[in-house]
Amino acid sequence: MKIIMLGAPGAGKGTQAKKIAAEYKIPHISTGDIFRANIKNNTELGQKAKAYMDKGELVPDELTLDLIMDRFKQPDCENGYVLDGFPRTIPQAEALDAALTAKGEAVDFAINVEVPDENIINRMSGRRACVGCGATYHIKYNPTKVEGICDVCGEKLILRDDDKPETVKNRLSVYHEQTQPLIDFYAKKNVLAEVDGTKDMEEVFEDIVKILGK
Ligand code: AP5
Ligand code: ZN
Repeated sequence: MKIIMLGAPGAGKGTQAKKIAAEYKIPHISTGDIFRANIKNNTELGQKAKAYMDKGELVPDELTLDLIMDRFKQPDCENGYVLDGFPRTIPQAEALDAALTAKGEAVDFAINVEVPDENIINRMSGRRACVGCGATYHIKYNPTKVEGICDVCGEKLILRDDDKPETVKNRLSVYHEQTQPLIDFYAKKNVLAEVDGTKDMEEVFEDIVKILGK
């Protein structure tokens, strides 16, 4: 099964993608996570990506496409995947489409997690990410057992550099301009499903399972 998560920054794409990956036993591929891992390891790609990410801009399509096409070659992608944060522009969606069509494949579901802009700033300012394993929490909606410490690996939690309110505002406008048009793109392909992302995390997941089937 090939699933795309659509939605604004902070809509809960990553949260739901991890649950989908566990339930349907497919890999969770987040371009944002891959870029952040490269930044942490100070790779050339990481250095290039950081300049864009810190401003809340998108990383150029060429860099992103090289990275994702490479990731698709890994053996764990054989039975599909859940994509989180990719595609994010029409050219990225078209490139994915061309790569899949060449293999006689197609996207099965594009799930749009809808959350109004008013709720987003609140979600982002409360999000905390683990420096060790990348797990994400929310100080109010998904707190850790011990404040500031990851439940999974015991490392400390930080506020992501791009979750500061000024950057979040720019990420939201970039989203509306460059990523929102994908909703129409996938609607035309008859694979779009919409879920109300303002419900609590478990309820959103139940709605997604109803769409994907057991
Ligand atoms: P990326 O990492 O993809 O960030 P994003 O799309 O902005 O999405 P987020 O990770 O911020 O949010 P999310 O929707 O996954 O929400 P989450 O589940 O964490 O990209 C970062 C940057 O990398 C981009 O700005 C760009 O520069 C670059 N990039 C990445 N991919 C690219 C591409 N394809 N092309 C070009 N550039 C690219 O949830 C948010 C918070 O809310 C958490 O604290 C969570 O616990 C909480 N929460 C989740 N669900 C709920 C709920 N139902 N109720 C209450 N709280 C909830
Ligand atoms: Zn951790």
